[in-house]
Amino acid sequence: MYELKIDSDEMHSPTYAGRAFSHDVPKYRLPAQGMSADAAYQLVHDELNLDGNPSLNLASFVTSWMEPQADRLAQETLAKNLIDQDEYPQTEAVHQRVVSMIGRLFHAPADGAPTGTATIGSSEAIMLAMLAHKRSWQRRREAAGLSTDRPNMVMGADAHTCWEKFARYFEVEARVVPMEEGRYTIAAEQVEPLLDECTIAVAGVLGTTFSGQMDDLESINELLARIESERELPIPLHVDAASGGFVVPFSQPDLRWDFRLSQVRSINVSNHKFGLVYPGMGTVVFRDSSDLPQELVFHINYLGGDMPNYSLNFSRPSNSVVLQYFNFLRLGYEGYSEIVGDVLSNARALATKLQDIDGLELINDGSTFPIVVLRASEPRATDLGELSHLLRERGWIVPAYTLPANAESVSVLRMVVKENFSRDMVDMLSDDLHGALRVLREQSTAYPRRPRRRPHC
Ligand SMILES: Cc1ncc(COP(=O)(O)O)c(C=O)c1O
Repeated sequence: MYELKIDSDEMHSPTYAGRAFSHDVPKYRLPAQGMSADAAYQLVHDELNLDGNPSLNLASFVTSWMEPQADRLAQETLAKNLIDQDEYPQTEAVHQRVVSMIGRLFHAPADGAPTGTATIGSSEAIMLAMLAHKRSWQRRREAAGLSTDRPNMVMGADAHTCWEKFARYFEVEARVVPMEEGRYTIAAEQVEPLLDECTIAVAGVLGTTFSGQMDDLESINELLARIESERELPIPLHVDAASGGFVVPFSQPDLRWDFRLSQVRSINVSNHKFGLVYPGMGTVVFRDSSDLPQELVFHINYLGGDMPNYSLNFSRPSNSVVLQYFNFLRLGYEGYSEIVGDVLSNARALATKLQDIDGLELINDGSTFPIVVLRASEPRATDLGELSHLLRERGWIVPAYTLPANAESVSVLRMVVKENFSRDMVDMLSDDLHGALRVLREQSTAYPRRPRRRPHC
């Protein structure tokens, strides 16, 4: 959200020595007249040069490179709205195939009726899954003549901010398991005390945003299965596989994190992360159509035909779905396995180069997810914020941040290794990081930090 600058008269002054144009162009008001397409292109293109380089962006999990054939398909399908299922029936068929392939990859039971949809990202997928669980819980409580006033959900502080967003927007109490120094995920023992008959679902994460680790999904599953059999209380487990959903099925196919766990009723994944498509796509899959109350599915007919729809936004681009289909055909299971194997080995190579640095400690060495996370071994041993700035001077985008409650004293530097991050780049980043550390250390010798005075009591 932005505060609107409706009173601003600020101008662009893009003087192109008279070739394109040399008049001022308002920044915050619709210009009275237009300009040639070439001139508009040049202006926008030049402004965006100030953005970081997506190939050097290790902050984000989101795909920043696809093959030229994918770019061509994206261009060809830009004009198609995914919601217009009657007008673009083949796009809809592709959508259905893509969601089915993902359901199979996540071991949705073939003898049930798994259901799912593409979304704009994992946030929307999580909102849709949790809305369904909230509604199912309400219906069960109403049928038993019980109050539906105070739904809650249980999650770790390691969960992405979109979980808190769901809780606040849709009025569900978020019961959050805090982190601790040395424990940045959750397991059954932390979840159990927070559960009650008003818990609509438990969130478990496969590849956390903060440290790239995995919640103990097996133990949470066992806990929920026991509660269901002992107390007849069915609490669904939703797995947030935004980052891990396209890694683990290829790197550790025997790891049981998905619908093979009996209490997992829904899963989300970000296709725009390790599904390897450009930003704008996630997926939600339900174990069974009974997990999605049919009153939440809208049937619209004014675009022609009957179009069942479960989404927050109505219109959306179709090209990310097409691109996911392209990648599935292009790579197959084998291709994804090869890419995942390579990014993991590049992540491990990076971790190896960074593992013995004085004042820094690895908390994720890239062995399960292609994410390398370093922490300062003492809170003030290394200024990670400054280190991140110094890396930015070389073009690298490597974020430094503190971990969530109650591990805020731990600051970390996180590097996500993606497909287009080569072994050469591993070497270059490692050299630059070592160089930046030397600069930091020289600065602190030249300008030593004064010990902080204790505040007077
Ligand atoms: C674990 C996790 N869940 C959810 C999200 C939100 O995903 P999206 O950006 O696709 O909405 C993220 C984003 O990084 C994430 O890491």
